[in-house]
Amino acid sequence: MKKNLLVLTTLFASTYLNAPNLIAKTVKVSSPNNKITVSVSDENTPSYRVSFNGNQVIDTSLLGLRFQQSADLAEGFTISSSKQQTADSTWQLPWGERKNVRDNHHELIVNFTTNRDKSNQFSVRFRVFNDGIGFRYEVPKQPGLDGNIAIVDELTEFNVPNAEKTTAWWIPARGWNRYEYIYQTTPLSEIDLVHTPLTMKLASGEHISIHEAALVDYAGMTILKGRHNKLKADLTPWYDGVLVRKTPDFTSPWRTIQISKNAAGLLNSDLILNLNEPSKLTDTSWIEPGKYVGIWWGMHVGETTWGSGKKHGATTEETKRYMDFAAKYGFDGVLVEGWNIGWDGDWYDNGDVFNFTQSYDDFNLKAVTDHGLAKGVRLVGHHETSGNVTNYRNQMADAFELYQQHGVRQVKTGYVADGGKIKRVDEHGIARFEWHDGQFMVNEYLDNVTLAAKYKISINTHEPIKDTGLRRTYPNWISREGARGQEYNAWGSPPNPPSHTAILPFTRMLAGPMDFTPGTFNMAYKGLGADTDRPQTTLAKQLALYVVIFSPIQMASDLPRNYEANLPAFQFIRDVPTDWQESKALDGEIGEYVVMARQERLGQDWYLGALTNEDARKITVSLDFLSPDKRYQAQIYRDGEKANWIDNPYEIIIENKPVSANDSLTLSLATSGGTAIRFKALD
Ligand code: NOJ
Ligand code: CA
Repeated sequence: MKKNLLVLTTLFASTYLNAPNLIAKTVKVSSPNNKITVSVSDENTPSYRVSFNGNQVIDTSLLGLRFQQSADLAEGFTISSSKQQTADSTWQLPWGERKNVRDNHHELIVNFTTNRDKSNQFSVRFRVFNDGIGFRYEVPKQPGLDGNIAIVDELTEFNVPNAEKTTAWWIPARGWNRYEYIYQTTPLSEIDLVHTPLTMKLASGEHISIHEAALVDYAGMTILKGRHNKLKADLTPWYDGVLVRKTPDFTSPWRTIQISKNAAGLLNSDLILNLNEPSKLTDTSWIEPGKYVGIWWGMHVGETTWGSGKKHGATTEETKRYMDFAAKYGFDGVLVEGWNIGWDGDWYDNGDVFNFTQSYDDFNLKAVTDHGLAKGVRLVGHHETSGNVTNYRNQMADAFELYQQHGVRQVKTGYVADGGKIKRVDEHGIARFEWHDGQFMVNEYLDNVTLAAKYKISINTHEPIKDTGLRRTYPNWISREGARGQEYNAWGSPPNPPSHTAILPFTRMLAGPMDFTPGTFNMAYKGLGADTDRPQTTLAKQLALYVVIFSPIQMASDLPRNYEANLPAFQFIRDVPTDWQESKALDGEIGEYVVMARQERLGQDWYLGALTNEDARKITVSLDFLSPDKRYQAQIYRDGEKANWIDNPYEIIIENKPVSANDSLTLSLATSGGTAIRFKALD
């Protein structure tokens, strides 16, 4: 009798598609600490929702994929089986914010099949950590999905309750300026198409950030707000409109939602790294964190040029001078931009003519690298492509080989081209124009990094695809840009506003390291005030950036003469490491302020960086992160009493204080100010 009823309901459900699926199944999985619960259901269509501390943080949200020539993996599928398992392990990063990373999660794999004839299937694998969740699609080879397939829509939603009362920090997606926009702070209901990480403060007070992990051979995911404020995955297309090209079996990248009760908690999450594969490189000894200076800022402020001529920046003599400066003050590398043929004319537009092995006549690669290596300083290489990736690809191996021969261990790449204007020449000789975050470029960037590894070269990508934690798998992907960096303070009009670096940690930095290039000491090359291109910060805030914004390679980006004019403040940049044993976000509110503490990888010293937006503020921090059985000398670099970013940015007080883990410090930050501290262990 009961059995008959079940059959009847099944019929009913499939005849009236919108009727409730009365035999709907729900399966659940919770985080190790039980605070986060994911429920996966097949009621009407596959969906999931997420709660945190009993509050709904993601409402019912669709799952599924649509294809160009085969049936969808979406409506009409029900849960056929599911399986749970747990994992708890600790692994090590060769360089990073911390050495030891714990991966503790509960996994649920949910298998869906078609109701009709069970001939089609797909799975969604969920991993639930104490700091959030990840899930991905797993699509096996099956009838209709057995050759080359084209994904034309990913249905994944991330529906956040009460969008009008949720605050979102975001930059627009699919725009000409890639990821280099000023962050907007608005109700979630006011976003349109945005990049991830998309970070939000919910009406209930929790903080969440939507992103992805392990983006390999797939299109980058952006987020589109639709009717009723629903948030949906919107994959960046190929030139022809297809989103993703695949051959089953395939898996999607992990869709991630980091969850924390407060803003600082987001910064202590290792979720993105935990969802990436272990390193493919066994020997990582040639991957060198460190600090560099460079022939760079002079071009950005117009003192010198990339192109040849009287103002050419990258000359042999100038490079040797930088090498001497680097050696004298303890820097590991000297970046040189504009050394190679191709910069003359409008370099934004002539990516076809870049030559990656031939130098200008006034630059002798051997002479400068011999000079540097004799003093323990390496040249940091530079490959600007202007977005013409075929021209670069044709020369890439030779270019890496040349650099390797001259002791170069790091190359900064550049893909300056408007969004959607990456130029590639296909196998028929036809030029195609791609987005920086579509599947083609996702693969292109990674190919560059894996080829570089063969030459023991690490890559710092500018105008990159966003980071999704791939540095775990490919540790020679040492840093990247992917947001407005310091260069915008040279010519950005407007430059980065005071809140910029109080938003970056909670948005862009959740993705991974950023080559922000801090350390401008001369704020007034065009004059002070609020209306010129200049860093809208105090000097102490420039120092704090070295601790707040993580990158295993950090640049001291200003001109040598500006550092030599202020050696006491420069001392902090000389001392601060770039590779850490441990990192702890101590406090912060998005767009307001942030306080970060980090312990050096090779030693006992701790460092602290605190910075604020346009509001001056006092913040009391407990020093209980310090080792309880040690005494420390706090070497403090703080805003002077009258410092303010607009017309008195330079006033800085440098003082030493004995401290221990039982103490607390009250930091006084000026308007757009900061504090940087080295806690030197004394015993
Ligand atoms: C843009 C990069 O972000 C910048 O650092 C570099 O100087 C220029 N491209 C030229 O390659
Ligand atoms: Ca850039």
